[in-house]
Amino acid sequence: MFTLLQQKQEEALKGGGDNRIAAQHKRGKLTARERLHFLLDDGSFEEIGMLVTHRSVEFGLDKEKYLGDGVVTGYGKIAGRLVYVFAQDFTVFGGSLAEAHAGKICRIMDLAMQNGAPLIGLNDSGGARIQEGVVSLGGYADIFYRNTMASGVIPQISAIMGPCAGGAVYSPAITDFIMMVENTSYMFVTGPNVVKTVTHEEVSSEDLGGASAHSTKSGVTHFSCANEIECINNIKRLLSYIPSNCEDEAPQRAYSLGNEKREALNSIIPNNPNQPYDSREVINHLIDEDGEGFFEVHKNFAENIVVGFARLAGRSVGIVANQPAYLAGVLDNNSSTKAARFVRFCDCFNIPLLVLEDVPGFLPGTDQEWHGIISNGAKLLYAFCEATVPRVTVITRKAYGGAYDVMNSKHIGADMNYAWPTAEIAVMGARGAAEIIFKGEISKAKDPAAKLKEKEEEYINHFANPYRAAERGYVDEVIKPEDTRQKLINAFAMLENKAVKLPKKKHGNIPL
Ligand code: HXC
Repeated sequence: MFTLLQQKQEEALKGGGDNRIAAQHKRGKLTARERLHFLLDDGSFEEIGMLVTHRSVEFGLDKEKYLGDGVVTGYGKIAGRLVYVFAQDFTVFGGSLAEAHAGKICRIMDLAMQNGAPLIGLNDSGGARIQEGVVSLGGYADIFYRNTMASGVIPQISAIMGPCAGGAVYSPAITDFIMMVENTSYMFVTGPNVVKTVTHEEVSSEDLGGASAHSTKSGVTHFSCANEIECINNIKRLLSYIPSNCEDEAPQRAYSLGNEKREALNSIIPNNPNQPYDSREVINHLIDEDGEGFFEVHKNFAENIVVGFARLAGRSVGIVANQPAYLAGVLDNNSSTKAARFVRFCDCFNIPLLVLEDVPGFLPGTDQEWHGIISNGAKLLYAFCEATVPRVTVITRKAYGGAYDVMNSKHIGADMNYAWPTAEIAVMGARGAAEIIFKGEISKAKDPAAKLKEKEEEYINHFANPYRAAERGYVDEVIKPEDTRQKLINAFAMLENKAVKLPKKKHGNIPL
C-alpha cells in the first residue's frame, strides 16, 4: 500500500546516485545527509520538501529530475534546541541553485524567522544552475533578501563545505558567522580562470579563496576548520553561547560561587611596560573552567585584537581584548572592523561584553590612513556607543589616546570600568608627551637627553597610572588582578536587568 511512498523516499535519499555519492566521498567530503546526521541530535531531523523537483524543461532538464532538487531542508535540534537547516547536495546538479532549490531554502528561512530559531546553512554548490538562467539569479536574490531581514533577529550560521562562487558568496557574507573547511572549500566572486583573463594573475582556487586565505588575509571566514566534523562541532559549540533569537537570553549553565580569587593574574603583566604578554592568558584565568574554555572567533585574522565567547559564572559573555603579543595590541583597520562586527553581534543577541584593554593607540602610517583607519576606527567606536548590553571594561595596562575612548570607555556608555594598578591612562606615551610639552625646556638644557629622561619620568609619575582617571570617576575602581573574576561576576549580575532605549530612529548610519 505504501510501496510508491517508500520508493520515492529511497530515491530521494540517494540524491544524485551511488556513483556521485562515491565521488563526493573520494573528494574527502560527506554528503548533505551525512552532514545533517552529525549536526543534529539523534532522530530529531524532520525533512521538509523531500519530494520537490524542478519545473525546468530547457537544455534537456525535463529528462533529468532528482527528488529534493539538490538541497535537503528541514528542522531539528542541537543540544535540545530547535534549529532550521539546509544542506546543499553536491551530488545533484553539483548542488547548483535554481528556482525550486531556492524555494525550499526560502521556506525554511521564513519558518526560522516566524518561530525565532537559528538558521544553519551547509553550503556545497556550483552556484547558479546554469540551465535555469535568470530564474536561478532570482532565487539567490530571494535568499539574500531573507538573510538581510533575518539579520539581528535570529542567528544565521554558514558552513562552506565545498565550492561557493559568484554571487553565491553573498548569502554567507550577510550571515553572522562563516566557517570554512580546509582544502575542500573555497569562496570567491570570480574564480582563477576569470582572474587570469582580467588581471593576468595565476592563482589556485585554494590560494584565491580557500579557508586559509579567508581566515588570515580577508577575514571573510570566522573559522577555518581542519575537516567537516570539526566544522560541525564548531557550529554546535558556537550555538551553545548564543540565544535562539534577539528576544531570548543565551543558554545558561549552572554555577555555584566558590573561591573566585585568581592569584595567577597578579603576575601576568611584565614589569617592563614595553614587554608583550598574551591576553589569552588573562582571559583564561578570568573565565569559567567549564572544560570548554575560550571559544575564539576570527583567531587567525587581525591578531592584534582577540574576540570570542566564554562563560562567567555560567553566563555567556562576549570578550574583546587587545593583544599586546601581536603588534603591541595596536588598533588598525582590520582589528577595528573585526572587533566592531563582534560587538554588534553580541549586542544584537543580548550577550554582555567584557573588554580587556591594553592598547598603545591607533597604528600610524600611509597604509593605515589610505585604507581608511578613520572610518574603520569609527566603526568600532560606533559599535560600542550604540551597544545596549551590559558592558564592563578592565584596563590591564595601556589606555592611550583615542584608543582609550574607543575601547569601551565610560564616556561612550560602558557600565563599569576597572583598572589594574599597572594601568597607564593618558593622551600618549610618556616619551612622546615629554618631547612635545617640554620641547623648549629640553632644547635649552645643558644635557637635553638627561632633561628628556627627567621630564619623561615626571609625566610617568603624573599620568602613567590609573589614579588620575579614578579621581575623575572615569575608572570606577582600581582593583588587584586576583580579584577581577569576582568583580566581573558581581558586576554582570548587577547589570542583569539593564534596560537602555536608543533614540527613536529608522536605523543608524554606521560609517561603513
Ligand atoms: C548546473 C552544475 C553547475 C552549475 C556544477 N554542475 N556546477 N550544473 N549548474 N552551476 C554539475 C556538473 O555539470 C556535474 O554534473 C556536477 O555538477 C559536478 O560538477 P563537476 O564539474 O564534475 O565537479 P568538479 O570537477 O568538482 O567541479 C565543481 C565546480 C565546477 C568547480 C563547481 O562544476 C564548476 O566550475 N561549475 C560551474 C561554476 C559556476 O561558474 N557557477 C556559476 C557561478 S555564477 P554531472 O552530471 O556531470 O555530475 C553564479 C551567479 C550567482 O553563481 C549570482 C547570484 C547573485
